Amino acid sequence: MTLHSVNTISYSWMALAFIIHILLHFVAAPFGRHTSEKWGWSVNNKLGWFIMELPSLAIMCYFLLLGRHSTESFVWILFIFWIIHYINRTFIYPLRIKPTSKKMPLLIVINAIFFNVVNAGLNGYYLSEYGQSYYTSAWLTSPSFIIGALLFIAGMLINLKSDHTLINLRKPGEDGYKIPKGFLFDYISSPNLLGEIIEWTGFAVMAWNLPALSFMVWTFANLVPRAKNHHDWYHRHFNDYPKERKAVIPFIY
Ligand SMILES: NC(=O)c1ccc[n+]([C@@H]2O[C@H](COP(=O)([O-])OP(=O)(O)OC[C@H]3O[C@@H](n4cnc5c(N)ncnc54)[C@H](OP(=O)(O)O)[C@@H]3O)[C@@H](O)[C@H]2O)c1
Repeated sequence: MTLHSVNTISYSWMALAFIIHILLHFVAAPFGRHTSEKWGWSVNNKLGWFIMELPSLAIMCYFLLLGRHSTESFVWILFIFWIIHYINRTFIYPLRIKPTSKKMPLLIVINAIFFNVVNAGLNGYYLSEYGQSYYTSAWLTSPSFIIGALLFIAGMLINLKSDHTLINLRKPGEDGYKIPKGFLFDYISSPNLLGEIIEWTGFAVMAWNLPALSFMVWTFANLVPRAKNHHDWYHRHFNDYPKERKAVIPFIY
């Protein structure tokens, strides 16, 4: 694939993200608290997470291990950041979430596999084919790498800490929801989703290429409406939900 083709696909992919972003303000993606049987066949929640996230991890491992290699290049750092995130999302996160009666529609799993294959495929291919000469030792001391890496790490810590808090709201055997409190939950309903947005913004700043930008745009397109759907859901289900709390951006939205 030429660089022109990779960039054209990235622009088209971002245009699709914009359309999906608008749709997600009207239809909540049906998993977790928004799941519903009307979306057809479904699978166990933990299994669903594992199956849909595995392609992203596998594709990036493939390009890291079997893609082009240059001893001058530090492109492997970007692969490692991505792989660490997806080891958590594929193996650790599904093992940690509490088992409930809720299932995940197969439609969500299939859509997420497609989303992950395109994102990891585009990013892995670009980094492997075109990244070798760009990510040199000079890149390691550039503002783009330093700021991007700090954002990525901060986002990941926020995401992990918030997911940890949410997962531990339920005692063993409990199936319901409680109002989360403390840390960024005092300001927003979904710090875990904000953390994920910050992470992939950091990745795009570090990598500074169109495929990474398109993944950042998709993360924003998916997670801002999801956070708003979670926020509205809390207000519908808890009369005492804190009025001053925003959905995903403290003090703003
Ligand atoms: N990159 C992307 O595009 C993308 C897309 C989606 C998700 N993600 C990531 O995947 C993770 C999960 O996303 P999500 O939207 O499913 O998160 P979520 O709704 O906040 O749920 C996270 C976990 O905590 C439980 N939980 C949430 N709120 C709770 C409460 N008030 N009381 C008790 N338990 C509660 C959920 O149970 P239930 O499942 O039973 O609700 C689930 O097990 C996040 O880290 C997110 O960043 C990424």
